[in-house]
Amino acid sequence: MEKIALITGIRGQDGAYLAKNLLEKGYHVVGTTRPNSEAPQYRLKELGVLDSIEFASFDLRDDFEQIYSVIEKVKPDEIYNLAAQSFVGASFEQPILTSEVDAIGVTKLLEVIRKLEPSIKFYQASTSEMFGNAKFVPQTEDTPFNPRSPYGVAKVYGYWITQNYREYHDIFACSGILYNHESPLRGMEFVTRKITSTVAKIGLDKAENLTLGNLDAKRDWGFAGDYVEGMWRILQTEKPDDFILSTGQANSVRYFVENAFNVIGKTIVWEGEGIGEKGYCSETGKILVNVSSKFYRPSETNQLVGDSTKAKQTLGWEPRMKLTELIKLMVDYDLKQFKNS
Ligand code: NAP
Ligand code: GDD
Repeated sequence: MEKIALITGIRGQDGAYLAKNLLEKGYHVVGTTRPNSEAPQYRLKELGVLDSIEFASFDLRDDFEQIYSVIEKVKPDEIYNLAAQSFVGASFEQPILTSEVDAIGVTKLLEVIRKLEPSIKFYQASTSEMFGNAKFVPQTEDTPFNPRSPYGVAKVYGYWITQNYREYHDIFACSGILYNHESPLRGMEFVTRKITSTVAKIGLDKAENLTLGNLDAKRDWGFAGDYVEGMWRILQTEKPDDFILSTGQANSVRYFVENAFNVIGKTIVWEGEGIGEKGYCSETGKILVNVSSKFYRPSETNQLVGDSTKAKQTLGWEPRMKLTELIKLMVDYDLKQFKNS
């Protein structure tokens, strides 16, 4: 019989890629959206899956009873909890909302499973941000957490409550501890898409320059399409467990910027330091990159690099797309998108 997957936050980047992946595997996919959210469906449209999805509606801040009654009607075999206030920067401004959604929201879903149907499998979207100022590099599933943002703290709660329900209530509840994964459908507030969209506009003479925060921040960046396959595999193992999904390689924002400009045939030459640093076009001498304190975080994480050996050995999962390929994919998509706008 056709399996039913419920994806919370289906209109987000990962929700769209996961929906496509599960539909291709023969699942019936139901996705939640927030009742009053005007978020567009463009990602689901772009991946050609909008018409194949059934929608349900709740906000993770809704009452438990409301969420329970929606899930009771959907009757899922698997729940993928991707819904979250997912922007680390915004979590410093909205710490209460972030905790309500990213921490308490997880307990509500697990409680529904415990009370309604304990055989429902549960995937929690955990994150490398839980390691924060990481005590060891690279991080494994055994590295202690040391979060450095309200987002990271809320996600640590989500991780532990998921593990507790697994141990004490015998629920197939798992965390994927995912490192940054990007795509042409990434939200514009995240640094990769901010870079590729602005570089594309500069290439089309629709923008003058790009302004960023910390150019030396490093991230372990992979492709979202590869990571959603890992989410599914996590729920198909014999024993519920937690897994890191990552590439194992960290690169700086500066490296990402240089490679994005290379796609439009420009080379950046850096001069200055800190917020006084600028990136110049090697050919024309024009300023293409500025730095502003506005985009710095109150606190930064360091050296987030994941060791995904356990996922490779147990799930047979490995990332496929290289970072330079991903950057080209994103810049090319944005060039196409902004050409006629
Ligand atoms: P995203 O694009 O920001 O999507 C998040 C989704 O959550 C949106 O579709 C939004 O729904 C929904 N949402 C926000 N607040 C909600 C609320 N109060 N109630 C119900 N739904 C709510 O995020 P993403 O990049 O796809 O990430 C998916 C998940 O993985 C998130 O939990 C994120 O924290 C986690 N994660 C992401 C990464 C990454 O690099 N992408 C890495 C590690 C972990 P609407 O459609 O209604 O706006
Ligand atoms: N957003 C943004 N904008 N970040 C900037 C900028 C800028 O102008 N300039 C430099 N950065 C730096 C940030 O300080 C951070 O160190 C890095 O770029 C990446 O920032 P984001 O793209 O916003 O992602 P993130 O790593 O904070 O969070 C993402 O990945 C997490 C997994 O580690 C999100 O998807 C989280 O939901 C996810 O858990």
